[in-house]
Order: sequence, then structure tokens, then C-alpha cells
Amino acid sequence: MSLLDKHGIIERNATLLLVGSLVVVSIGGIVEIAPLFYLENTIEKVDGMRPYTPLELAGRNIYIREGCYTCHSQMIRPFRDEVERYGHYSLAAESMYDHPFQWGSKRTGPDLARVGDRYSNEWHVEHLKEPRSVVPESIMPGYSFLATTPLKVANVTADLKANLAVGVPYSEEMIANARPDLMAQADPEADASGLEERYPKAKLGDFDGDPSMVTEMDALVSYLQMLGTLVDFSTYDQASGYR
Ligand code: HEC
Repeated sequence: MSLLDKHGIIERNATLLLVGSLVVVSIGGIVEIAPLFYLENTIEKVDGMRPYTPLELAGRNIYIREGCYTCHSQMIRPFRDEVERYGHYSLAAESMYDHPFQWGSKRTGPDLARVGDRYSNEWHVEHLKEPRSVVPESIMPGYSFLATTPLKVANVTADLKANLAVGVPYSEEMIANARPDLMAQADPEADASGLEERYPKAKLGDFDGDPSMVTEMDALVSYLQMLGTLVDFSTYDQASGYR
């Protein structure tokens, strides 16, 4: 039997052809996908990235609970118009501790990947309470209840542990100090030296301007103020040769 005849058998038998095609396609797939599970450098290592502080993590949970992602993306694409408006395009490493990630593709409002440090805490509080008081044409809904709702801190240790379980490198020390770290970040009077050592570049302060309690507003604003601020792009770009 010649080679052509043998191939004819496959071509005339639909089941055999289907099985054969699947085998060929899956070899291609395995060759492309399997190495990614073993490569150390699937995500490029970038200086400055660290896990969220307990307060930022609580703020992130509120961001997700309130569905902010339905109107806001957190991914700056590598296009000139985006980079000029929002800043350096997003790196994979910048969302490596996000479970789940907040990239998104729908932008009713602006991208928030680098909103940290762009406005003052006071601006954010005003804007979140009543967006039209600072941006008259805004269609964003108000979230004034965040400023009067005490933050639930009971779950914070469990939350860090849950993130550890999915690969976020929280140390035993971070987990043991989760609750004091959360309180220290929102209290300008507290000794936050341990917190700052564990979480470099953590922003401290009474984010919502109400020293009487730690509110959901404190947590959300602390989260917004850290977004996109961890990586120092002046050194990153020199090291990577990007201009
Ligand atoms: C219905 C859509 C919608 C939802 C939901 C929404 N926003 Fe917005 N957001 C907007 C729009 C539109 C703007 C632009 C106008 C403005 O600044 O208010 C905006 C602006 C912002 C800005 C200012 C960004 C900048 O660079 O100027 C921040 C910060 C922000 N939103 C945070 C949030 C947070 C946090 C939540 C969830 C608690 C949220 N938004 C929910 C639509 C939305």
C-alpha cells in the first residue's frame, strides 16, 4: 500500500480524521502552553511590587463589592493616546497579586490603573460622596454611605490567608500583624514603622478626614491612592532599555 492510499483511509473515515486532527492540534497546544507552567519568568520581575496592605486589600474588596469595575478598567494599553492620558502602560507584574484581576475592557469612566497620587484624599472623598460636586458633568453615582459605614475588620486576617493560599507572598509576620497594620495605616497618631517596613511605599493617614472611626471610605481611598504608584518607572525604563 502506498503512502497516498494510507492517507486515503484517514480522509475517507470521518471519525479517524477527527481523532487524527485532535491529536495534531493538541500537540501544537501542549508545545505552546506547557512551558509557561515551568518558566520562572512568565511574569517579568519588576522592582517595587508588593502585596496589598490589609487596609488597601479591604478597599479593594469594597471596589469589587460596589462594582466599580463595571465602569472603570485598570489596564493602560501600550498605545500612544493611552500612555499620554494615563501614564506608562500597565505591566503584567502590576496585577500579579490581584485575585481576581481588575483589567476590564469597558470604560464608562477613565482607566484607574495609575490614579494613585493624582488627586488629594479630600478630592477622592468629595468625589465619591457626590461626584458632581467636583466634576459637574459626571455621570458617576455617589457613594456617600461609605463615609459613615465602619469598616468590618474581623475578616482581615482570613482575607490575607486566602490570598496566601492562591499565591500572594504574605509572610507569617504580615498575617500576624494584619489587624494592627490595618488600624495603623488609617491612624496618623499610630506607630506605623512596622507597617512601612512590611509594605514599602504604604500611604498613611486619616484618608476620609474623620478621626473618630475607620470607615469603608478610608479603605477605598487608601486603595485608590496606591494604584499604579509602586513601580518606579524612571529606573524600570532604564533597566529594560525602553524609551
Ligand atoms: C456608572 C459608571 C460608574 C461607576 C459605577 C463608577 N464610576 Fe467612577 N467614574 C465614572 C465616570 C463617568 C467618571 C468621570 C467623571 C468623574 O470624574 O466623575 C468617573 C471618575 C472616577 C474617578 C476619577 C478618575 C480620574 O482619573 O479623573 C475615580 C477615582 C473613580 N471614578 C472611582 C470610582 C470608584 C472607586 C467607584 C466604585 C465605588 C466608581 N468610580 C464607580 C463612572 C463610574
